[in-house]
Amino acid sequence: MRILILNGPNLNLLGQRETEIYGERDYEETMRAIGEYAASLGFSADIRQTNHEGTLIDWLHEADSEGVQAALLNAGALTHYSYALHDAIMSVNTTVYEIHLSDPRKRKETFRHHSVIKNACAGTFAGEEAESYKKALEHVRKEWSP
Ligand code: DQA
Repeated sequence: MRILILNGPNLNLLGQRETEIYGERDYEETMRAIGEYAASLGFSADIRQTNHEGTLIDWLHEADSEGVQAALLNAGALTHYSYALHDAIMSVNTTVYEIHLSDPRKRKETFRHHSVIKNACAGTFAGEEAESYKKALEHVRKEWSP
């Protein structure tokens, strides 16, 4: 089964940004581990990162037109204000899961406490660093296995 794993703004700077929150592992290493885990569960994972809202939206539209059934989306800070991303998730047939390395609801900045994409997503996996992605992959495998 194909799965799309999308990462939004600033996630390319993992390993250097706020390491006390996001951990010491860089983006490549983190996504390599997630990709290997996805493969071990039988997924063909397409893992991407962009700093641009519109690119994330284009990728969701593309996934829909290509019949991709599920996507994991760590939208970074766009989580907290992108109504366009909310609408894109609502518009596609691809089932989208919200992912976060940290638990935004427990962070000190109150702007992180609200997710505008949450209601459009089929579920949220947060607060466990790379494990958040792995738990989501396990969930998708359970949900979608024949
Ligand atoms: C994040 C949480 C967001 O609040 C933040 O803006 C990020 C990363 C996370 O993975 O914990 O960029 O999505």
